[in-house]
Amino acid sequence: MVLKASASFRESLPGQFVMVRMTDSNAPFLSRPFSIYSVRSRGGDTFVEILYKVVGKGTDIFSRLREGDAMNVLGPLGRGFDVPSTCKKIVLIAGGVGVAPLSFLAERCEKEISGAEIICYMGAGSSKALAGLDRIEGICSVVKISTDDGSRGHPGLVTEFFGHDMELYADNDSRIYSCGPTQMLRSLHKLLKDRPVACQVSLEERMACGIGACLGCVVKTKSDGLVRVCKEGPVFDINSVDFS
Ligand SMILES: Cc1cc2nc3c(=O)[nH]c(=O)nc-3n(C[C@H](O)[C@H](O)[C@H](O)COP(=O)(O)OP(=O)(O)OC[C@H]3O[C@@H](n4cnc5c(N)ncnc54)[C@H](O)[C@@H]3O)c2cc1C
Ligand code: FES
Repeated sequence: MVLKASASFRESLPGQFVMVRMTDSNAPFLSRPFSIYSVRSRGGDTFVEILYKVVGKGTDIFSRLREGDAMNVLGPLGRGFDVPSTCKKIVLIAGGVGVAPLSFLAERCEKEISGAEIICYMGAGSSKALAGLDRIEGICSVVKISTDDGSRGHPGLVTEFFGHDMELYADNDSRIYSCGPTQMLRSLHKLLKDRPVACQVSLEERMACGIGACLGCVVKTKSDGLVRVCKEGPVFDINSVDFS
């Protein structure tokens, strides 16, 4: 979905998100959070793109909108990924529509870090669920696909697939970024435990306000106790999150 937004969105960072709801309707009552997939300027206007999967009432309503329908867009919100100024290997691990913020990050890294290799491990339930594949293939040096049902690429979980290659990214020149279901991030955390490589993850908790007021999105961290994903996140160092 492409949303015409205010010029302030041009400053958006990969990993930041928007809260969206219909302007003329109370359904869904609460705004829904979505990662920023891209920000483009055209003819003096700014457009924010989101990549979403229909999972319930809100996304079902959004999927039936027509061009020109009005939505309230709040953002850019939260803390984005730290984009390194120098780095040799940038490794992205995406689960399903978790590819959205990583694609935005890849675009940014491609523009800003000369000579960096960007490698993406992209996993989904089946080949049909590999949303955003064409774009990420156009940006990354290598895209390694896995599907749970084996309909495309490596059969099995994306974290298993990444696990086979992990030794390639064990040095200080590599950075890992991931977004996807909590179970996937938990498995990644186990794989990377006790390894020196830096890894940031974007968490997708349910949110009501998106601005730090309702405490509906808190998660447990190792160093700072309970924190709000919408305000202190959604991006965290993987080792700071308590996945137990
Ligand atoms: C920071 C952030 C970024 C996100 N980015 C994206 C994105 O780029 N693309 C995308 O498709 N989705 C994204 N999500 C998830 C998205 O917000 C939910 O899928 C959406 O709010 C569901 O709304 P709904 O009304 O359709 O579903 P509901 O009717 O509210 O719920 C339907 C089902 O989805 C589950 N669900 C709802 N919200 C979440 C959630 N946050 N995490 C896991 N399960 C959930 C519910 O438990 C329920 O089973 C993001 C969430 C966060 C917090
Ligand atoms: S969603 Fe309200 S505090 Fe995070």
